[in-house]
Amino acid sequence: MSAPGRPQALIPEPHGGEGTPVSAPGRSQALIPEPLGGEATPVSALPGTPAALLGPWLKGYPGTGPASPAAGLAALGWRLLADDLPMPLAVLRQSALQHNIAWMQAFARDRGLDLAPHGKTTMSPELFRRQLDAGAWGITFATVGQLRVGVLAGVRRALIANQVQQRADLDALAALLAATPGLRVAFLVDSLAQLMQIEAWSRRTGPAPALDVLLEVGIAGGRTGTRDHAQALALARALRASPAVRLVGIECYEGLGVAGDDAVDRPAAHALMDRVQALARAADQENLFEAEEVLLSAGGSAIFDLVAGGLRMALGRPLRGLLRSGCYVTHDHGHYRRLLEQVVRRCGCPTTLQPALEVWTHVQSVPEPGLALLTGGRRDLSFDIELPRPVAWSAAGSTLARPAALAWRVTALNDQHAHLRWDPSAGPGVEVGDRIGLGISHPCTTFDKWRWMPVVDDDYRIVDAITTCF
Ligand SMILES: Cc1ncc(COP(=O)(O)O)c(C=O)c1O
Repeated sequence: MSAPGRPQALIPEPHGGEGTPVSAPGRSQALIPEPLGGEATPVSALPGTPAALLGPWLKGYPGTGPASPAAGLAALGWRLLADDLPMPLAVLRQSALQHNIAWMQAFARDRGLDLAPHGKTTMSPELFRRQLDAGAWGITFATVGQLRVGVLAGVRRALIANQVQQRADLDALAALLAATPGLRVAFLVDSLAQLMQIEAWSRRTGPAPALDVLLEVGIAGGRTGTRDHAQALALARALRASPAVRLVGIECYEGLGVAGDDAVDRPAAHALMDRVQALARAADQENLFEAEEVLLSAGGSAIFDLVAGGLRMALGRPLRGLLRSGCYVTHDHGHYRRLLEQVVRRCGCPTTLQPALEVWTHVQSVPEPGLALLTGGRRDLSFDIELPRPVAWSAAGSTLARPAALAWRVTALNDQHAHLRWDPSAGPGVEVGDRIGLGISHPCTTFDKWRWMPVVDDDYRIVDAITTCF
């Protein structure tokens, strides 16, 4: 049985021929209740497809709950703060999610740009669909494997904001393009050496449509990307001359060295965009672009306002400017929150992004005054930029959430525990059975710790769910 809308050609048969069903890992029939409605809904449906089931085999799903497709969860009437679901549990706030998707779409539209949100942040088919439904031009990925997930979710325009040169990836990309009518993908090239790898692959593979590429402009001391104009222009000429690729645009990423200081970030972003524009102009004059429409792309979620202006310029052919912000979709309570304050100040925006992602935990022990242990740790929360911070508190037995005390601090994370500390002489702290909502800093590395997340309303009722495919 196949998932609805699943393009057969993209999913090779398992070795051994027979369509071995992909069942939920370790799912024991005796322990897993029948799906809602009793019907034998296939467990083989791909995550993110409407038929895919969520169930007790997933972290954070009620152990006695019925398996259900994401769309069926609202009908179950579960409430996070009625303790219907076990914690830790990462949840997405519906109102903030909707606000952020609309906010960034409007930001791009108001500047004459399009959005190709970076999908690596969430790797969630349901969120890709929400972003596309809101008007995103396409979705960006970091690898061909991520792209495949997006294509299965219905993405038909995509950037791979990364170099592609391995044979296995080029084979997979070519197969995906051949099997998916209307699919358009462009990936990054930043060296003649990479081009030679692609050409060698192309010669081995035989005649095939040329692959669309963007030439990457990089920053000295940074990551990938050409380092100077002469090198970039020489590469653009080589790309034009190659039958294996078509040069369709220029790409850069300004987000790596963000200082959070206007005096540093503004000139750095402008210098980068000046280089992108100089290269686009030179390539246009030499007729090096091989597309009706040239793509110019930049933009993460930190200082996207400083590069947005550079994505518009006059060329001899139509131009599409693409922002690739990814983390904006959930925003956060730390790193991006601080950076957005500056974006909003610089742009004079009347509103800003809202943190949509919280990881809820139970207070499981208060072993000494001023120290509580929470049921969530490194397996559940990101800590690559900074530790999470308590943002909401719900007393044991209550279904109301209140702001957490400002003085409460998460001071350490173990694999399964967070250490919450407060000054016991300054007032009451938390008690066993209380619930603490943790705000995170950097959403990407929290998403990859969850196979699903409920979407909650402002009273923490479960109204929907998303899945992730990392
Ligand atoms: C090349 C590239 N583009 C866009 C983004 C998206 O930036 P952000 O995660 O700040 O939304 C990233 C993130 O790492 C990136 O590496």
